[in-house]
Amino acid sequence: TAGSRRPMKLPAPSVLAADFANLAQETQMLNESAAAWIHIDVMDGVFVPNISFGFPVLEAIAKHTTKFLDCHLMIEKPERYISQFAASGANMITVHAEACPHLHRTIQQIKAEGCLAGVALNPGTPVSVLEDVIGDLDLALIMSVNPGFGGQKFIPNAIQKTKRLAEMAKQVGNTTLKIEIDGGVTMANASDLYQAGADVLVAGSFVFASNDPKATIAELFSVAN
Ligand code: DX5
Ligand code: ZN
Repeated sequence: TAGSRRPMKLPAPSVLAADFANLAQETQMLNESAAAWIHIDVMDGVFVPNISFGFPVLEAIAKHTTKFLDCHLMIEKPERYISQFAASGANMITVHAEACPHLHRTIQQIKAEGCLAGVALNPGTPVSVLEDVIGDLDLALIMSVNPGFGGQKFIPNAIQKTKRLAEMAKQVGNTTLKIEIDGGVTMANASDLYQAGADVLVAGSFVFASNDPKATIAELFSVAN
């Protein structure tokens, strides 16, 4: 199946749903958890109708963790800030296709900074937008909610998009591409998403609003591989 094409599947808790007044403890909890990645949601109030946080928060988290920092930039013209995200501790930088007229150039810019490069697609954007860059990508992010807020309802069409993207990656021979799904992920859809070919499942409110976030991360990890 498409899902067996790459071995390492994992959950990526999103700190967007964390308690920002207790960021050190939240980061410590993630350090002790089964999550290898931490998802960082940056919103500019222009590309999306909400503002989250920027460099100081990323730097604070980077200082307290050795986990892989997966930065999702929901910002207009992200090319203006790539080097600053890299300097602030980002390991993966994902930009939105809809925010980048010179997408190919922006991907090369991310790689030149020594980071892995990802491109995200809104629910209304077809996977075909990635046709001419998919060979260059380390990650493709399929939004399963309209970006801007945590705690929204999962849009099931993301499962079909995951399958199409896995097929596209196979066709161009990108065997290391990671497919990440973001928004509304819970135990109700995690297995289906992994089986469709997803490698990384972002989970914000499902993890941080649970009684035992570490146990919830472990639960998401248990259906991954
Ligand atoms: C949404 C963000 C997501 C968000 C997911 O715009 O990109 O990463 O944190 O939150 P949940 O898991 O609550 O949908
Ligand atoms: Zn995100």
